[in-house]
Amino acid sequence: MQKSTPPGRDDIQLDPPLAHHAGLVPAVEDRSYLIYIGGALFTALAAGFLLAVILPLSAAGTLPWAGSVPRLTQAHGWAQLQGWAGLFVAGMGLRMMPRFAGRRPLPVRVTLPISLALFGGTIGRTAVQSFLAGRLAQVGFIVMGSAAALAMFGVGGSLLLTLARGRKHREPWRYFATAGACWWLVWGVLVLVASIEGARNGIVVPARLDDAMTWIVMFGVVANFIWGIQSRSVPIFFGRKTPTVRRAIVPGVLLNAGALAILVSTLPPAATQRDRLLGLGLALCGVALIWLAPTAGSLWGQAHRLRPRARAAARYVLAANWFAEVAGLLLVWSGSASAISGDYEFFGVRDAARHAFGVGVITLLIVGMAQLVAPVFALERAEARPPGARDYVTWWPLVGATLLRIAAGLLLGHMNGTARLQMASAAGALGWLGLAGFAFSVIQAARKEPRMKALLTGSTRSPTAR
Ligand code: HEM
Repeated sequence: MQKSTPPGRDDIQLDPPLAHHAGLVPAVEDRSYLIYIGGALFTALAAGFLLAVILPLSAAGTLPWAGSVPRLTQAHGWAQLQGWAGLFVAGMGLRMMPRFAGRRPLPVRVTLPISLALFGGTIGRTAVQSFLAGRLAQVGFIVMGSAAALAMFGVGGSLLLTLARGRKHREPWRYFATAGACWWLVWGVLVLVASIEGARNGIVVPARLDDAMTWIVMFGVVANFIWGIQSRSVPIFFGRKTPTVRRAIVPGVLLNAGALAILVSTLPPAATQRDRLLGLGLALCGVALIWLAPTAGSLWGQAHRLRPRARAAARYVLAANWFAEVAGLLLVWSGSASAISGDYEFFGVRDAARHAFGVGVITLLIVGMAQLVAPVFALERAEARPPGARDYVTWWPLVGATLLRIAAGLLLGHMNGTARLQMASAAGALGWLGLAGFAFSVIQAARKEPRMKALLTGSTRSPTAR
């Protein structure tokens, strides 16, 4: 018989499980989600938010890359959507959906290659679009796009399989997650098409396809997951009941109908029809956001169901839902104007809506929800002390960045162009700072984990052992 090794000083001693059967899932912590969080933070800090500082200054002529602005704009949008939002949503989705559906966690042999292809494809495409030219850039653009598309098929396929095999609860999160998984597959196809079109077009994806794609990702892929996951937990944090399918179905259908209208808007040959469809899609998504924030998220209340230390993170969730209201109103305004006139209306308002959603909703919610649900913060959440100065270092820069970036969009045509672009760049710098603060707290939490576990073990040892 094999001899068991004596436990080390730092191991946490757990009672053996009471259940013994072949289907038992061992309680081994899967830390592969840290690769997704780490990859998302790396892409945001080294590319997305950095380009958010450089790009407006280049457009203003302060930095010497004015000729590269179309490429830098797309590289920024891609890094933020696929790298920052996409990697995080994929990581959380692949980790949480099996739990929600009552399935075994997805094995590392599935989650690891997906994360590497998604991360590699994002960083590779951002670098190719920002720095390379000629034949090498064309090939690189298609190769990186294909890697990312494969990863997207992997995310969508794994999620659909998990949901199909899982328990069939009639709860809103299942429908949001199923729709979101289907949009991951659509995104994969669009990325392949965009890579080929972009390679043919001087490494710039044709504007209409690129614009439609960015909205489809925000609403089809990201919003479905954001409100799917929120619907299952956020109302509870604030002492309310989770929504029923009946309450969430209308905004859910509007959101997906809007994303579908945006997808279809890439097809008609006439510009008027395309603009009308895109406008209709944006307006429908706008109504959905306004409706979903109070229904599946939360706009007010005290998170008294959370521990004192975790309550600071709940403010991010409330603020994100308020910024969804702002984004929704701006989308209804600009989208309905285009649906009626058949022209591409209110560029600045759309830009403000895009960033109310990108910075205000996506970024604040990632930072808040990570602190509330990611296991790496579990021990910090359990601390008895109330939030301290470090908790505010991320909060204020991110809120400031969102407000400044929305203002920079809305002020297009109403103030001096250079000053407006400098304002956008300052928003980028604030956003970068806030995110660096968050990255620092993730690293600290990961480093503190073994020490905290050791302390907990020490406090549970018998006095004689001590
Ligand atoms: C405070 C931080 C940010 C700043 C300063 C910033 C700045 C900019 C600027 C100047 C543009 C070009 C607008 C134009 O076409 O005139 C842009 C486009 C864009 N941004 Fe941001 N941005 C920020 C954060 C974000 C975030 C967090 C996201 C998404 C999660 C995002 C997504 C996008 C997208 C999708 C585009 C359009 C890209 C395209 O046309 O292909 N941005 N941003």
